[in-house]
Amino acid sequence: MANEEQISLFNTDAFSESLPQAEPNLELIPTDVKIPIPPGTYDSLTPIAEHCNRCHRCDLGATRTHAVVGRGNPKAPIMIIGEGPGQNEDETGLPFVGRAGQLLEKILAAVKLDTEKDVYISNIVKCRPPGNRTPTTEEAAACKPYLLEQIRLIDPKIMLLTGATAVKGLTGDKRGITKIRGTWMEWEGRLCMPILHPAYLLRNPSREQGSPKWLMWQDIQAVRDKLDEISA
Ligand code: URA
Repeated sequence: MANEEQISLFNTDAFSESLPQAEPNLELIPTDVKIPIPPGTYDSLTPIAEHCNRCHRCDLGATRTHAVVGRGNPKAPIMIIGEGPGQNEDETGLPFVGRAGQLLEKILAAVKLDTEKDVYISNIVKCRPPGNRTPTTEEAAACKPYLLEQIRLIDPKIMLLTGATAVKGLTGDKRGITKIRGTWMEWEGRLCMPILHPAYLLRNPSREQGSPKWLMWQDIQAVRDKLDEISA
């Protein structure tokens, strides 16, 4: 047989078209070791939540009551990414339901954004760090595949990253939040705005020009304007 004919026997283009695509078997994905979770593993948010609730990819799994995966509209145009659950969130399994969460709701409502309709809220780490400490880089990295899958499925138009830990955990950018808040940045082709963390506003109640609350007001109006602009 001529060489060319032999080669054509292994025409992989023809093969790959006729081969059935392998479906990932979610039962076989270990949630106790940090093996990669490839993009496309999950076809909805439900199995992500199931996996997070039995996840031990880092030590936070040992002390959680509930994994805190997300809340809001899975088709929302805005996704908000926080740092990690606190006590109220750990108890309820829902992100941003404590004092910081109540303030976040008020901030959103001030520009007519509704958490049930316009927003989906999640965190860098899905399990509460003991004593509400900042999650470590390793914990954030262990949890990141779940977040990346959430972002892929929700496909938000705008992402709000609340505080330096959220910015670093998602994008790797280590700059201080006061330097970069209120500036649009692009990550993986997505429009992101770093904003101050609502808990920081609770510790700084002043409303004077230049105060954290005043800065947040500027930033959330810019987010509203951008959403209106890209939805028009
Ligand atoms: N702070 C966060 O960053 N996330 C929450 O879910 C609650 C408080």
